[in-house]
Amino acid sequence: MVDDSENTSVNPRVGDTDTLAEVVERRFSRRGFIGASALAGSYLALAGCTGPARPAGRGGSGTEAPPAFGFTEIPRGMDTTHHVPNGYRSDVLLRWGDALFPGAPEFDAGAQTAAAQRLQFGYNNDFIGYVPLTLDAGQQNRALLCVNHEYTTTALMFPGLGDEWPRRLTREQVEVEMAAHGGSVVEVVREEGRWRVVLDSPYNRRVCADGTPMRVSGPAAGHPRLRTTEDPQGRTVAGTMNNCAGGVTPWGTYLMAEENFNGNFLGQVPEHHPEADNHARYGVPGRWYDWGRHFDRFDVGQEPNEPNRYGWVVEVDVMDPDSVPVKRTALGRFKHEGAESVVAPDGRVVLYMGDDQRFDYLYKFVTRRAYSPHDRQANRDLLDDGVLHVARFDADGDIDWLPLVHGQGPLNADNGFHTQADVLIETRRAADLLGATPMDRPEDVEPDPGSGKAYVMLTNNHQRTPEQADAANPRGPNLSGHIIEITEPGGDFAATRSRWDILVRCGNPAVPDEGATWNHATTEHGWFGSPDNAAIDPQGRLWVATDGNDKTGAADGIWALETDGERRGTGRAFFRAPVGAEVCGPRFAPDGRSLFLAVQHPGDADGARFERPATRWPDFVEDRPPRPSVVVVTREDGGTVGS
Ligand code: FEO
Ligand code: CA
Ligand code: CA
Ligand code: CA
Repeated sequence: MVDDSENTSVNPRVGDTDTLAEVVERRFSRRGFIGASALAGSYLALAGCTGPARPAGRGGSGTEAPPAFGFTEIPRGMDTTHHVPNGYRSDVLLRWGDALFPGAPEFDAGAQTAAAQRLQFGYNNDFIGYVPLTLDAGQQNRALLCVNHEYTTTALMFPGLGDEWPRRLTREQVEVEMAAHGGSVVEVVREEGRWRVVLDSPYNRRVCADGTPMRVSGPAAGHPRLRTTEDPQGRTVAGTMNNCAGGVTPWGTYLMAEENFNGNFLGQVPEHHPEADNHARYGVPGRWYDWGRHFDRFDVGQEPNEPNRYGWVVEVDVMDPDSVPVKRTALGRFKHEGAESVVAPDGRVVLYMGDDQRFDYLYKFVTRRAYSPHDRQANRDLLDDGVLHVARFDADGDIDWLPLVHGQGPLNADNGFHTQADVLIETRRAADLLGATPMDRPEDVEPDPGSGKAYVMLTNNHQRTPEQADAANPRGPNLSGHIIEITEPGGDFAATRSRWDILVRCGNPAVPDEGATWNHATTEHGWFGSPDNAAIDPQGRLWVATDGNDKTGAADGIWALETDGERRGTGRAFFRAPVGAEVCGPRFAPDGRSLFLAVQHPGDADGARFERPATRWPDFVEDRPPRPSVVVVTREDGGTVGS
């Protein structure tokens, strides 16, 4: 989803010494499964702590290196369905409305209810996390998928809304939308090479925008600016929403990043209200949805502090389906696109986070304490204590990571920051004062533990003028986005000074005025625009998913992108989405043989309605609207995806 505004100025039941492996082992023994003794090791590999071994011939100066990718790319184009290369298979694994629990009502597109939606896969799947549950002789075949449901495409969800827009919704329809937001934790198993959902898994759960109480923790917990009528303590929020990208921590928890929360608020605070400027900086109220007409807390005139309770990163302990999710305020409040993490050499955990707004910033959080690989409980509140930094990109290729710490520099009472809570609630204004570099919509940031690099997706910024172009955002306007490669000194992800370079300026290389910079080996199908999500596969190769490539006349999709040697900057088209959709996820299984991806808002073209979507993907059943779905891509011969 794009916000068209811009920056203007568990069961305590889990004991104290349990490791993730022990928790899994106990749960599975109860259910008669074999133990998961190899799990801790598998988890380390997932988090990159042990780092996947790189194939020989990659990562060096590499002038003789062969292409990193071996598939035959798919052609540019756009139609009603999705496409994968020859020799690949795609299976739709989870669709909006699919049952997640035994006895969940069968999906009925024309008569959806909130009660049904709370038991079904949500709308507009975005982030996909993979938490392994077992390792059988090296075959990672049982896992939890953690999938965000970012937002609801109202016009495609409900019949009979007509052409008058925006349309007033009934309270029940709003409740359906709230139940369709949030996330799903779903156990999946691979049998004979095919993945399926485990409907009776004790881990399956839905997290929603309402009815999933969550605890607020960290420096802003309990602050008066977070207190509301429903929560006079400022420590409990009724749910989470606008969960865009996210992350999985090294200790196996699921991070849900709250992005465009502003859009779900209505109303107005008085001009001189203490929160007026704060809300303006975040585009609150966005008035994109009708929630505030039925629920006072989404009307800022009624509850001026409610927006301060969104824009955080939520941590969910997926090993305990009864656990209370936690909003970790130490990670700052902004339009969090994602929260991918990596372990620094000294054991501290580092999260890279983009604030997806035109002219907003790139952040890096470094925990104070080191991660404990063998004591899961010791990591329980690791994300409550650390330093949030914002990036200043210098023209000489340095990044200075500026600490957002109360009392340092301008972050003091003279500027309205009385405590660290103020700095975090108004992260954007604090970063403005520090002189952070306004970026072209920072989306997903993918650290690569094997190389000490991180890749930043800058999706586009049509409002940057030529005069506003700078070294790190060199085009004004920037219609197609670019990708920045960060190099951490000595692989120290916790460093406060890093180096940066532009990997590619996206767009059509055949149009010189666009200023795209692809490797000359890139074909007419291999270039793309508007990078959004990214993944590093187990071989250390970069994959990029787009949101807005359709502006170039072809569908969004996933491209493989070379980062090393003489082929650096060569794109290759791998997956094409159906019309109207962007592609999210993507996530590789730890063995690299399955790629999970999220097709978001299929059929959402101009003027599309429930009755006339641009496609009825993936069911193609008459009268049924399109369904955002998770697709799993495998090779027909069972080999490594992309090789
Ligand atoms: Fe939800 Fe920034 O994409
Ligand atoms: Ca995104
Ligand atoms: Ca990612
Ligand atoms: Ca996007």
